[in-house]
Amino acid sequence: MPNEIFFFSGTGNSLALAKSLAGKLGNTRLTRIAYTDDAEIVSTAEKVGIIYPVYSFGMPKIVKAFIGKLKVPPNSYVFAVCNYAGMSGSSMKQTQKALAAGNIKLNAGFGLVMPSNYLPFGGAEPEEKFQKKVGRAETRLERIAGIVKAGESRNIENPWYFPYWLTELANRYFLKSIVKEVKKLHADDKCTGCGLCTKVCPTVNVRLVEGKPQWGTNCELCLACLQWCPVHAVQMGNISPDRKRYHHPDIQAKELITDREF
Ligand SMILES: Cc1cc2nc3c(=O)[nH]c(=O)nc-3n(C[C@H](O)[C@H](O)[C@H](O)COP(=O)(O)O)c2cc1C
Repeated sequence: MPNEIFFFSGTGNSLALAKSLAGKLGNTRLTRIAYTDDAEIVSTAEKVGIIYPVYSFGMPKIVKAFIGKLKVPPNSYVFAVCNYAGMSGSSMKQTQKALAAGNIKLNAGFGLVMPSNYLPFGGAEPEEKFQKKVGRAETRLERIAGIVKAGESRNIENPWYFPYWLTELANRYFLKSIVKEVKKLHADDKCTGCGLCTKVCPTVNVRLVEGKPQWGTNCELCLACLQWCPVHAVQMGNISPDRKRYHHPDIQAKELITDREF
């Protein structure tokens, strides 16, 4: 396959973008970024893309770990697309640095605004706002596809001025806070024990114990467990019962439960 796009996605935005871009590029294999023991992740594609959501102004830790294991052919064209609800911080700079540590050049890096899935900051956005964001992202994807097809190298996008050290600081704080936040995740009486939360978790961090989910410590806080629960039984402390759940409407949970190959 001439093109390969690796994607990480909790609630489907990044997967929707990856699928759309793959359709525009043609001949593209989609590979999910999820927990793996593999020491190396090897792509033989001529063009390699990485699509991920911004977490706390930077890359999710699972994406950082993935980049640390990635091996690509010496002359491959590498691009990345981050997506976020409002502020990307210095995510793309982080991506560029992480790739450079493995001697991989980032040829082009883009940022796209997408609907928010971060429930602690509010529930799903209103339909009108959703449509606007998704429509704009789709238009920009057309342009990105053209750049990738042409193999054009360009400066990474930094849509918001944001000092790199601030991104690093916010990330460090976020990583510490995950430990606290994951303890707030629990299932209420509505839980039917269907186990979907265990399957959509990209880090295999949720297990059913006597028919009810329990969370370990290897959490990304992607909130897939909460957002995909079919009966809205997964809660985050006491803030979630009244907040509207979100996942990208064109993506189904089963698309996020396959192993690495997609
Ligand atoms: C833990 C967490 C942290 C987030 N941090 C940011 C952020 O710093 N800036 C931002 O604009 N959006 C942030 N978001 C929103 C997501 O980046 C955005 O909704 C993204 O499109 C979700 O992609 P997905 O559906 O593929 O998981 C955050 C979401 C989560 C779950």
